[in-house]
Amino acid sequence: MSKFAKRMHSMEKSAAVIRNLFGAMNDPEVISFSGGAIAQECLPVEIIHELTQDIMQREGRGVEALSYGPVMGVKDLREVVVSDLVRPKGVKLSVDNAMILSGGLEAMNLMCQVFIDPGDIILVESPTFVHSIEIFDMFQARCIAVETDENGMNMEDLEAKIKKYNPKMMYLIPTFQNPTGITLSLDRRKKAAQLASEYDIVLLEDDPYRDIRYNGVELPPVKAFDTTGHVVMANSFSKIFSPGSRLGYLVANERIINKLADAKSATNSHTSILPQIICAEFFKKGHYQEHHRNLCAVHRIRRDTMLDAIDRYFPEGTRRTQPDGGLFTWAELPKNINTTELLVEATTNPEVKVAYVAGEGFFTEGGGKGRNCMRLSFGAVPPEKIREGMAKLGKLLQTYESRYSFTVSS
Ligand SMILES: Cc1ncc(COP(=O)(O)O)c(C=O)c1O
Repeated sequence: MSKFAKRMHSMEKSAAVIRNLFGAMNDPEVISFSGGAIAQECLPVEIIHELTQDIMQREGRGVEALSYGPVMGVKDLREVVVSDLVRPKGVKLSVDNAMILSGGLEAMNLMCQVFIDPGDIILVESPTFVHSIEIFDMFQARCIAVETDENGMNMEDLEAKIKKYNPKMMYLIPTFQNPTGITLSLDRRKKAAQLASEYDIVLLEDDPYRDIRYNGVELPPVKAFDTTGHVVMANSFSKIFSPGSRLGYLVANERIINKLADAKSATNSHTSILPQIICAEFFKKGHYQEHHRNLCAVHRIRRDTMLDAIDRYFPEGTRRTQPDGGLFTWAELPKNINTTELLVEATTNPEVKVAYVAGEGFFTEGGGKGRNCMRLSFGAVPPEKIREGMAKLGKLLQTYESRYSFTVSS
C-alpha cells in the first residue's frame, strides 16, 4: 500500500476537528453556530454583478482578469490594502511590502514554509484558532500554549516560554480572537513587538476580525509597534468582503516579504486575478464604506442576541466572553459538561439540531483542557434563528446536566 508522508500523521487530530466543523455546516436542518462566516445577507452580490460586467467590458481589464499575473498580486489591490487597510492603522509600509494571498489561511502556510522545520516550536495563545493548528501540525511544528486571559496573551508567560523553548515563531490573533472574541490590550501589543525584537523571533499577527467592531476603542496592530521588522501582519478579505473569493493579504518588511514571495511562487504562482480585480474595484469605486457600516450594524445585533441568549438559556455557572467585535463568543460551562460528547447529540437529535465547535480542539496543550467549553459563532445566523437554536441547546444542556448528575449519584 502506498505510504503517506509523516506530515499527514502529524495533522490527523486537528484535521478531524476541521472536518467535523464543516460536516455540520452541510446539513441544512442544523442551526449552525460552528463556522466563522459572515451573514449571507451582507455579501455584496448586486454590486459585484455590476463590477464584473464592467471589468469584462473594459478595454484590457477582461484580458488581464483571465491571464496569469504577478506573484505579489494585482497592483490596484495591493494599493488598496496599503492605503485603506494598513497605513490608517499606523503601519507605515509601502505597496512593495504587501502581498495578496489566496485566503487569509495562506499566510500561515507561507510563514511555515519560510520559517518552520519539523520539530520547531511555535508559541500560540491558549486557546487558539484550530485551522492554524492544523497548518502548524502539517509542518510538524510543536505548538506550545502561552497563558491567555481576558486581555489576551500573558506577556510574562510569553517571555518565560521564549526563554524555555527557544521558539522559531510566535502566533497571535490580537483582535476579537478566534475562538474567544478577546482583544489583546494596548500594553501587551507593545510588549509583544518588543519581545519579538529583543529575542529575534518572527511574530505572525493574524488579524481578520479587527475591522468588524461594534463598540470600544480601536487599537493599533502589533505591527505598528514593530521597529525591527520582526512582525508579519496577516489579514483576510473573508470577513469584510467575501469568504468565497478566497482573498487575503500580508504585510512584511523587505527581507521577509521576498522569501514569502518565493514560497508563494512555488505554491501557486499567484492568487486568482479576477477576484483580486473585483475586490480592488469594490474599494476604489467607494463601495466599502457603506458595506462596512452595514456589516457592523448587522453583526452587532447578532452579537447582542447571542450574548443575551447565553445568559437566558445556558445553565447557572456558565461564563462567557463579552466581545466588542468579530464573530465569536466563548462559553465556559459547568465542569461536568463535556461539550465534545454533547455535540453529537446536539447535531443529531431531531429536537435540537444545533451545531457549535467543542472547546477541546482549540487547546494545543491537550489533557482535556476546554472540555467544558464551546465556541459560538453568531455571524451566519439571523437573530430569530440564534434565539431558537440557543433555546434548544439550553434545553439539551439542562437534560444533559440532570442525566449526568443521575449517573454520578447512582
Ligand atoms: C484567526 C483566523 N485567521 C485566518 C482565517 C482565515 O481566513 P480565510 O477564510 O481568509 O482563509 C480565519 C478564518 O476563519 C481566522 O479565524
